[in-house]
Amino acid sequence: METLPLQDYNIYVGDFDQRLSDWLAEKVYSRLLIIVDQNTKMHCWPLLEPVVSAYQHSLIEIPAGEDHKHLETCQQIWQTMMEARADRRSLTIDLGGGVIGDMGGFCASTFKRGMDFVQMPTTLLSQVDASIGGKLGIDFMQVKNSIGVFRNPQAVYIDPRFLRTLSARELRSGFAEIIKHSLIADREQWEELRQISDLGKVDWPKLIVPSLRIKQRIVEIDPFERGLRKALNFGHTIGHAVEGHALETDAPLLHGEAIAVGMIAETYLSHRQLDLSAEALETITDFIRRIYEPVALDPATFPELLRLMSNDKKNESQAINFSLLPAAGSVEVNRTASPAEIVESLEYYNEIVAVGNRI
Ligand SMILES: NC(=O)c1ccc[n+]([C@@H]2O[C@H](COP(=O)([O-])OP(=O)(O)OC[C@H]3O[C@@H](n4cnc5c(N)ncnc54)[C@H](O)[C@@H]3O)[C@@H](O)[C@H]2O)c1
Repeated sequence: METLPLQDYNIYVGDFDQRLSDWLAEKVYSRLLIIVDQNTKMHCWPLLEPVVSAYQHSLIEIPAGEDHKHLETCQQIWQTMMEARADRRSLTIDLGGGVIGDMGGFCASTFKRGMDFVQMPTTLLSQVDASIGGKLGIDFMQVKNSIGVFRNPQAVYIDPRFLRTLSARELRSGFAEIIKHSLIADREQWEELRQISDLGKVDWPKLIVPSLRIKQRIVEIDPFERGLRKALNFGHTIGHAVEGHALETDAPLLHGEAIAVGMIAETYLSHRQLDLSAEALETITDFIRRIYEPVALDPATFPELLRLMSNDKKNESQAINFSLLPAAGSVEVNRTASPAEIVESLEYYNEIVAVGNRI
């Protein structure tokens, strides 16, 4: 097991059983509340149950998926916590992907003004990204993660065994954040990644740790997103808008799929606004296009996408804020782009994917 220490908690990578068992024995919580959805109950709970069965515990099962990451599901979680007589000395274990991590952590942080929680991410996306950095929250009025708090877990247990039951589509979605980490901070890792042609043959544990280290380094320097942390937003200004819009259609996109769209469009903006070379633009967009299904954007939706972008929490005054790439492996935060430039980047995206489903 590898340990990555952060200022006030540790990330453990590897089989969690012994480490969690020792930790629980040390801590003495009044009750454990384990949040699962139907998939993590079936595939992941059997690994965790033997470790927690010696303690008073309740399982809180919520419906799976982003379209349940809202207030109503929080009410269900808080109600079950209340019925289980949870108190501030209880511990929540978020056993699931980014939706459970963000929402479960948010519910634990607000229930009776806050109880401890542990992240146990079970998707690739949550293992390399969502479970660390302390951002918790839910979607509200179609705006992603618009209600939430910053609060750190007691620990994060990243166990690659969970990935065995994850679908190829979910793995591909998580891979988007690994691509992003390398593009903003690690040219060498990017050069290695871009040799990948078949995600089915990837040794995931080998990619997870370096990717985690990039996020760890950034969130430690800037835990509340006042500056450097905005670097992690590369691909997300446009990606979040595309994701938010797609959520309202009958063809919702996974988070990483929307971020892949955003990364292509924002790489184009990087080329237009910074020194990113035409060659780098082509290499990056070509790699992303090879990995992800094309999703052509209907130009009639561009005004709606712009509206969603202007609601992004990271904006300051009226301008839409971007983190862009001067070169592969480095990033510049607090860039802005005009609506016309953003539309041009969406048109570029449409051109390079050429055909595909419209959202
Ligand atoms: N807090 C942050 O810093 C941060 C960063 C990035 C993304 N996010 C959030 O993360 C969310 C997306 O997370 P996600 O991609 O993990 O989606 P998710 O949580 O919806 O999980 C995806 C699907 O996989 C299933 N699943 C989970 N683990 C499984 C396993 N081991 N085997 C089989 N099925 C499994 C889930 O039930 C779900 O159906 C978004 O809401 C996004 O906003 C947060």
